[in-house]
Amino acid sequence: MITTLVGAQWGDEGKGKVIDIMAAKADVVVRATGGNNAGHTVVSGGKTYKLHLVPSGILYPNTVCCIGPGCVIDPLALLKEMDEVAANGTALDNLKIDYRAHIVMPYHLLIDELSEAAKGEGGIGTTKKGIGPCYMDKAERIGLRFYDLIHPEIFGGKLKANLAAKDRYIAGMFGAKETADRRKTLDFDKIFAAYIDAGKKLEKYAADTTVIAYEADKAGKFVLFEGAQGTLLDLDMGTYPYVTSSHPVTGGFCVSGGIGPTYIKECVGIAKSYTTRVGKGPFPTELFDEVGDFIREAGFEYGTTTGRPRRCGWLDLVILKYAVRVNGLTGIALNKLDTLTGLKTLKICVGYKCGDKIITDFPADIHELDKCEPVYKEFKGWTEDITKATSLSDLPQAARDYLAFTEKFIGCKIILVGVGPDRSQSFEV
Ligand code: GDP
Ligand code: IMO
Ligand code: MG
Repeated sequence: MITTLVGAQWGDEGKGKVIDIMAAKADVVVRATGGNNAGHTVVSGGKTYKLHLVPSGILYPNTVCCIGPGCVIDPLALLKEMDEVAANGTALDNLKIDYRAHIVMPYHLLIDELSEAAKGEGGIGTTKKGIGPCYMDKAERIGLRFYDLIHPEIFGGKLKANLAAKDRYIAGMFGAKETADRRKTLDFDKIFAAYIDAGKKLEKYAADTTVIAYEADKAGKFVLFEGAQGTLLDLDMGTYPYVTSSHPVTGGFCVSGGIGPTYIKECVGIAKSYTTRVGKGPFPTELFDEVGDFIREAGFEYGTTTGRPRRCGWLDLVILKYAVRVNGLTGIALNKLDTLTGLKTLKICVGYKCGDKIITDFPADIHELDKCEPVYKEFKGWTEDITKATSLSDLPQAARDYLAFTEKFIGCKIILVGVGPDRSQSFEV
């Protein structure tokens, strides 16, 4: 059976936690999109694991964890992450890396940084992990894949050609004089040596992960596809241009994970009980007051990858309804209900007022979105500690009302509620 898990908002919905919980029963976990721009947190037995590219099923020794074809891999960062994981006593024997995944190169990191700096206030607020420039090369069909990395002679030839092209590109785009020192760091010998060494260390993990997932499913095993980022960061479905450069929606697993759509049984969306976003771009329910600060501190809303403070706002059901539709969600996991404890009044966005119209479909035109004002329904808050709740009946009536309204409005069942960061702090509904 194949279950997919996607972020239903702008990322950081607690995907790592839910995947870790569901991975207890999974035989295979597959990441299919994005790279180490992702930061997935798993908290177990008092220990916190921050995973960026290593799938969040890694804590289970018998679960095969795949980095799929649509991922982009910074091999040096991946090796560092693998060392950290191993230092925690976790085995990596079951890690698999698809031959087709693209390689993030030092020039991608440099271009990401220079491009953001050149855009100034108009920048996207990327994670500066070279993700966009790597996917650009993929689309231009000059990217280096994992199967190139493990063939040094082929890798060397392609690297030489790319370095010459990138030198011209960087000089032309960002100034020949201004970038002279930075371009010098893109030295063939150094990069070749470091990357080939990384390739040698990673070669033993090489696999066709699409076959692993397919055969596991056919054998009646449980395969979990782990989303990164979130629906509104999708290159097509998100708030373009303030998006990532891959497809973190359910369909992305088919295209980038190599799995046929009819094999997917369940599509689960992960959401927070409020909304956050890190980086720039529209955010209708964003709070600029003390309530926003309260949520940031109570929910510890600081980026797992970059440490940046996350922008915080009320739960937006226009967004969740959109996520249900574009992902075909069969269930929602709603995390961080505990973060809202202590707020006297809660607000849920149930529509946008755009001119004299009230809309409930997320606008396709970002310029229209800019003019929209959220329409709120108010709910009573609660003060009881809910971090030990193990069922709906342990929650105060106000919290139950909040969940019941959400579920009804978006037309999708809440199947799991998160009441704390630990693996044990959530319950199925
Ligand atoms: P991901 O990128 O979707 O995996 O999410 P992140 O790990 O970047 O951010 C989610 C944060 O919320 C992490 O610090 C988690 O440990 C934490 N978290 C997840 N679920 C809950 C929950 O139900 N309650 C609380 N208080 N924290 C949670
Ligand atoms: P997880 O998997 C939240 C955001 C960046 C920026 C935009 C583009 O932890 O939910 P990029 O570096 O991808 O080119 O940046 O996307 N972004 C994320 N925001 N969670 C993430 O991943 C993100 N990955 C990228 O902040 O706005
Ligand atoms: Mg994250």
